[in-house]
Amino acid sequence: MASVYWPANWNPAANPGTRPRRIAVIPGDGIGPEVVNGGRQVIQHIMQIDPTVQLTMDEFPWSSAYFRAHGRMMPPDGLDILRDYDAIYFGAVGDPALPPDVPVWGLILPIRQALQLSVNLRPIRYFPGVRSVLKELPADGLDIIIVRENTEGEYAGQGGWLFPKTPREVALQVAVYSRPAIEQVVRYAFELARRLHKRCTSISKANALNYAGRLWDTVFEEIGRDYPDVKRETVLVDAAALYLVMQPQRFEIMVTPNLFGDILSDLGAGLVGGLGLAASANFNPAGGVPGFFEPVHGSAPDIAGRGIANPLAAIWAAAMMLGYLGYNAWEEKIVQAMATLLAESDVKPVDLGGHASTQDVVDALIALLSR
Ligand code: NAD
Ligand code: IPM
Ligand code: MN
Repeated sequence: MASVYWPANWNPAANPGTRPRRIAVIPGDGIGPEVVNGGRQVIQHIMQIDPTVQLTMDEFPWSSAYFRAHGRMMPPDGLDILRDYDAIYFGAVGDPALPPDVPVWGLILPIRQALQLSVNLRPIRYFPGVRSVLKELPADGLDIIIVRENTEGEYAGQGGWLFPKTPREVALQVAVYSRPAIEQVVRYAFELARRLHKRCTSISKANALNYAGRLWDTVFEEIGRDYPDVKRETVLVDAAALYLVMQPQRFEIMVTPNLFGDILSDLGAGLVGGLGLAASANFNPAGGVPGFFEPVHGSAPDIAGRGIANPLAAIWAAAMMLGYLGYNAWEEKIVQAMATLLAESDVKPVDLGGHASTQDVVDALIALLSR
């Protein structure tokens, strides 16, 4: 049975065919280690009950604490170390005591950019039992997949300063939109839409972004013509934010430039229970590099250290990683266990209005997997 996100013949691993599959674990900062610990326990449990699941997990302490000790977020050969893995399981980085770009540009963005993880998949799914801010949910629930371009746009890291630290200072943040990157993410989105028989909506801003937006729209139209069986539409990002709140059923697959995808994925998560339930997969559809799996949320300093973070986003990301590595049945079982937990169990994490600790939620999920 193929995973939802990858075609049946998908063989993404950096080392195709080798066993065990090798996972690099980077817990990071704040609630990152708390939720990644939950995901690891789930994976360990699966390995105990199913000997066909053969994985190794090596943990790397790369984080803001590592930065304090070593002056960098990861060692100089960190990216080369990661290239040898089949997948990377990541928590979050971010430390209120550091400038906000330091952890991010020291770890997560170089991983996405240098490993050319051109696609970031972010499912927005409503699980029955979760309190939604939407007064009326669409009758058939909500199941949107955001397909986010993941290496460029405003995130290209290009720009600079004019007259820095003077009253006339100017900051330049250049948005990079390249045809190859747009083609890759748009083609992936259409392939996914075709496989799932869903509509494909491009989110752009070609009215104001007269260069980048035009290139994005042109590529979307060109590639869309190769998929006459897939219904396609282009929606401006401001209207898309409105429709997500007021008519979310309008969307099935959304393909977006990097920054719009970042913002809309938090918005979408907010519609269906919050960031505690939002998972993501970063990967290159051409394969050859490790996939990178993480919750959508950050280090959440406001709740870190209290043992109350919702681990389900990180656990769902671990499930996506298992699907990516070929253990599709376990991906489905974990998501099914999440659905059962949210619909039927009294064990509810604090962000969903309950009182359960992170570990309570992990234990309850593992118990459901053992049934
Ligand atoms: P955040 O995602 O960390 O938190 C936003 C809100 O959601 C907070 O109120 C938080 O308590 C809540 N929340 C998030 N995850 C939760 C969970 N699993 N369970 C319960 N509640 C949860 O975003 P922020 O506060 O804007 O950023 C904090 C730091 O994280 C910043 O340094 C930022 O740069 C960084 N960040 C990192 C990543 C990443 O590493 N992938 C992603 C987003 C933000
Ligand atoms: C996310 C995060 C990152 C992003 C940050 C940490 C750079 O917010 O994964 O959504 O903007 O992509
Ligand atoms: Mn984000």
